[in-house]
Amino acid sequence: MASWTLKRTHTCGELRATHKDQTVTLNGWVENRRDHGGLCFIDLRDRYGRTQIVFSPQRSAELHAKASGLRPEWVVAVRGVVCPRPGGTVNPNLSTGEIEVEAREFEVLNEAKVLPFPLSDDAEVGEELRLRHRYLDLRRRSMQQNLVLRAKLVQVMREYFAKHNFVDIETPFLVRSTPGGARNYLVPSRLFAGSFFALPESPQLFKQLLMVAGYDRYVQIARCLRDEDLRADRQPEFTQLDVEMSFVQADDVMTMLEGCVAEIMERVLGRKIDLPFRRMPFAEALSLYGTDKPDLRFGMPLWDVADIAKSCSFKVFTDALAAGGAVKGIAATGAARYSRKEIDELSTFAQGFGAKGVAWLKVEEAGLTGSIAKFFQPAELAALRERMHAAPGDLLLFVADKPELVHQVLGALRNHLAGKLDLIKDGEFRFAWVVDFPMFEYSNEEKTIVARHHPFTSPKDEDLAILEEKPLEVRAKAYDLVLNGVELGGGSIRIHRHDLQRRIFKLLGIGDQEAKEKFSFLLEAFEFGAPPHGGIALGIDRFVMLLLGLDSIRDVIAFPKNQKAMDLMTGAPGTVTPRQWKELHIRPEEPPKAT
Ligand code: AMO
Ligand code: AMP
Repeated sequence: MASWTLKRTHTCGELRATHKDQTVTLNGWVENRRDHGGLCFIDLRDRYGRTQIVFSPQRSAELHAKASGLRPEWVVAVRGVVCPRPGGTVNPNLSTGEIEVEAREFEVLNEAKVLPFPLSDDAEVGEELRLRHRYLDLRRRSMQQNLVLRAKLVQVMREYFAKHNFVDIETPFLVRSTPGGARNYLVPSRLFAGSFFALPESPQLFKQLLMVAGYDRYVQIARCLRDEDLRADRQPEFTQLDVEMSFVQADDVMTMLEGCVAEIMERVLGRKIDLPFRRMPFAEALSLYGTDKPDLRFGMPLWDVADIAKSCSFKVFTDALAAGGAVKGIAATGAARYSRKEIDELSTFAQGFGAKGVAWLKVEEAGLTGSIAKFFQPAELAALRERMHAAPGDLLLFVADKPELVHQVLGALRNHLAGKLDLIKDGEFRFAWVVDFPMFEYSNEEKTIVARHHPFTSPKDEDLAILEEKPLEVRAKAYDLVLNGVELGGGSIRIHRHDLQRRIFKLLGIGDQEAKEKFSFLLEAFEFGAPPHGGIALGIDRFVMLLLGLDSIRDVIAFPKNQKAMDLMTGAPGTVTPRQWKELHIRPEEPPKAT
């Protein structure tokens, strides 16, 4: 068909009873066709909604016959008259449910093959198939809603930062590979044999240089690329709201960001949230919830019972304590009814996180019962019950081990049990800042200390004195924004003095030579008047995922990679020709198949 004439006057979500008797034209996809009572009905769909079209043989036998050949997902244009639906056929669940359009004319703009999967939101379709035909998957109503909400969120972000005088600046995609952080994707240079660009894991260095350049308030909706192992909330390409500010302290950055979050909650979800968000030191988060990203939608904290356990006769506990370990427990509300099998399942779950076992006690009116009760004096049992604020019906679960492991296991059990016990209300959003992170952590892999956030994060002033002696005790001016147990964002106040930056590099084993080679531009910049500065980046994909209550980040990204970092639709990554290899001065491990 060379051209088409019936251009839409309205969308498929627009017509109401007030449009009665108007002649309108709609363009869209045929959702379905039904024939009954001698009439032919189609639901015409676009991203705004759905409108019922009626073809009556009385009005035009020819049109009716032609309409009977329409198939799902054909693209059509229909001109007709808006009529109120006959009594009893009004559909209150549909925005256009009061009316139908009586067709006078229509054009088929394009036909469609039978689809590889149904587009209805309740259809169970394998993700592989969805990703392979992503353009069809994106035609589904739920995916359209997800992406529209995402666009709205980004729009609110842009407006918020523009209102607060931030300058939106683009930073490069072809950058230098820098040590530390996530593994980079690399791009071989054609002009310089053996040299590579890296794709940026974040605009970190550039935004700091923009502060040196005097831009003072920078913002970017920035794409980041990281060649990491993927999980449900991680993609190799993702989008950050990236912010950097000069002449600020940690609180200023947090206040600016939470203002943005509150505006998003209000304008995108219509939800008022209380400010400021709770600020919780890292040590407290770990000790109370076993994790640096606590889910605060429910209680069930971890209780330290070492002082009570140390005098008991349960060897598992006393041995762990003697070895410098911890004994902690949680009181699972109402879980005393669990059968032996269910408790064993909890134990298996905990073992998946490295626990040797889980000890338990049931809280009954008469007292605590369970196989380990015999190892405790009555006064100790009473003390456990009081410490853990336990009530009849609770199940007390204990883990004894190295403190990190105890936290890891109980933190995971806590989240797991909240789901099992239905402790989380739908649609609840609990934001919190976790602050005072340790500056460094010990990497078993690299057998040395590494920066917990990144090497440009500033230590807290009061901890500078112990920087070299006790680096693992040094706290950073770093903060994470946590929502419902997920890390939404993270940032820090940066080092702006080159002498301190050198000290940190040295501690991290980045020698003067290496630092000069890799970061000379940054160190040099710091010698030309770098203002105090700090910033943050917030994962937009994760934020949208949480706002929509979804489990997979892939459902809020138009064209995501699968769990193996492949694009199933285009077939990326794909092979390239030997000629391209040659141009880039690289040789494949295995020659690419002829293309
Ligand atoms: P960070 O590495 O903590 O900080 O990243 C900030 C936020 O980005 C999101 N995020 C991801 N989302 C999806 N897939 C991924 N693979 C992924 N990795 C991270 C998370 C995370 O909290 N330059 C610093 C920020 C700063 O210091 O200003 C940075 O990138 O939501
Ligand atoms: P055992 O003495 O090994 O038979 O263990 C008795 C109970 O203690 C079982 O319920 C185990 O699951 C539990 N248990 C074993 N190791 C630990 C541990 N490190 N912390 C807490 N409970 C444990």
